Amino acid sequence: MSNTHDEICSKVHRGWGLFNWRFWSSLPKSMVALLVMIPIVSLAVGLGVGLGVGLRRGGEGKGSKGPTTTTPPPTISENQTTATAVKWQPEVGTTWQIELLYPLNDTSFDVDVYDIDMFDNDASRISDLHGQGRKVICYFSAGSYENWRPDADKFKDSDLGNTLDGWPNEKWLKLNSSNVREIMLSRLDLAKGKGCDGVDPDNVDGYDNDNGLDLTEDHSVDFVNFLAEATHALNMSLGLKNSGAIIPKVIGNMQWSVNEQCVQYNECSIYAAFTDVGKPVFHIEYPKGDNTNNNKAVTTAQKNTACNNSDARNFSTVIKNMDLDSWIQAC
Ligand SMILES: *[C@@H]1O[C@H](CO)[C@@H](O)[C@H](O)[C@H]1NC(C)=O
Ligand SMILES: *[C@@H]1O[C@H](CO)[C@@H](O)[C@H](O)[C@H]1NC(C)=O
Ligand SMILES: *[C@@H]1O[C@H](CO)[C@@H](O)[C@H](O)[C@H]1NC(C)=O
Ligand SMILES: *[C@@H]1O[C@H](CO)[C@@H](O)[C@H](O)[C@H]1NC(C)=O
Ligand SMILES: *[C@@H]1O[C@H](CO)[C@@H](O)[C@H](O)[C@H]1NC(C)=O
Ligand SMILES: *[C@@H]1O[C@H](CO)[C@@H](O)[C@H](O)[C@H]1NC(C)=O
Repeated sequence: MSNTHDEICSKVHRGWGLFNWRFWSSLPKSMVALLVMIPIVSLAVGLGVGLGVGLRRGGEGKGSKGPTTTTPPPTISENQTTATAVKWQPEVGTTWQIELLYPLNDTSFDVDVYDIDMFDNDASRISDLHGQGRKVICYFSAGSYENWRPDADKFKDSDLGNTLDGWPNEKWLKLNSSNVREIMLSRLDLAKGKGCDGVDPDNVDGYDNDNGLDLTEDHSVDFVNFLAEATHALNMSLGLKNSGAIIPKVIGNMQWSVNEQCVQYNECSIYAAFTDVGKPVFHIEYPKGDNTNNNKAVTTAQKNTACNNSDARNFSTVIKNMDLDSWIQAC
């Protein structure tokens, strides 16, 4: 993983929608209690592929390194069944759309999965997608503070690090803060209450950025496994966003990868670790670059580059505008 890559692309994916989250509903806090009671060990159900590998790898990163208010993730023994832990394991090649810029208003693109902003979309929109036979992944930033979110005032000053490069309204979060983790548990409750099938927690790669909090890969590994345990306890699935360097230590707990620009940065072989164990890579390329967002198809040459990369052959690739509006071009 090059730092250059992360500096350039780690922030292309979230943050828009400075308006209208509509529905910060009063969800029962009682769900949180479940989180500490159900031992979660992740992993695909009914997926023969790669089970053993996933379990062994999943065990590696399990040591809880920072004090938290929650139970440390359980140790995974080699033969332990995880059949009750994860109910939705999408297949390699699952098709998808991602739209984060505004509340979803176009569900016509015929794919298996929609990845949409958790705050900006309400339960009825998610229910509409379910009515169309689709699954819904709810996006939120887990590793950055966004000053416009409805729960922004819950963060403490001591939770906040440097401003994200290029994103003046966001700061890196201290991933081992118990307060931050409580807030993320509440967000997972919100996702559950809205009916999300899974979550897409972003910005978990502070270690690769000038975060101002001395965040390391170990902090990210512990945080991602913490999120996984809590997510699975709510019968939802989750994926790892970018963060190629920590894949071996968390992949056992992840149901997919969400990757941006692995073709552009020649990193797809790193993310193929997911498809190798039967888990999809939801992959985005932005051939138009940083500043062009329109409804025009990319050139045939651009499309071939994005779609035909030999390391990404089984990825769920989509071509998008950098602002992640509704426009999409499938491979
Ligand atoms: C978080 O990690 C940092 C860096 O390792 C450490 O200095 C700090 O004490 C930790 N804080 C908590 C609350 O665990
Ligand atoms: C896992 O199962 C195999 C086959 O039943 C057995 O030989 C092995 O000892 C088991 N490993 C553990 C850690 O229980
Ligand atoms: C868990 O999720 C699966 C797949 O989305 C669903 O079929 C099942 O009914 C859910 N179980 C519970 C207890 O909610
Ligand atoms: C969806 O909403 C966006 C932002 O308000 C708007 O620009 C776009 O035209 C809308 N699309 C449709 C299909 O209504
Ligand atoms: C990309 O793959 C498609 C489908 O297999 C094929 O039709 C097309 O010729 C390929 N393009 C290149 C440049 O390899
Ligand atoms: C893609 O998946 C197929 C079926 O699982 C597998 O045979 C093939 O080796 C995979 N290709 C790559 C490039 O991973």
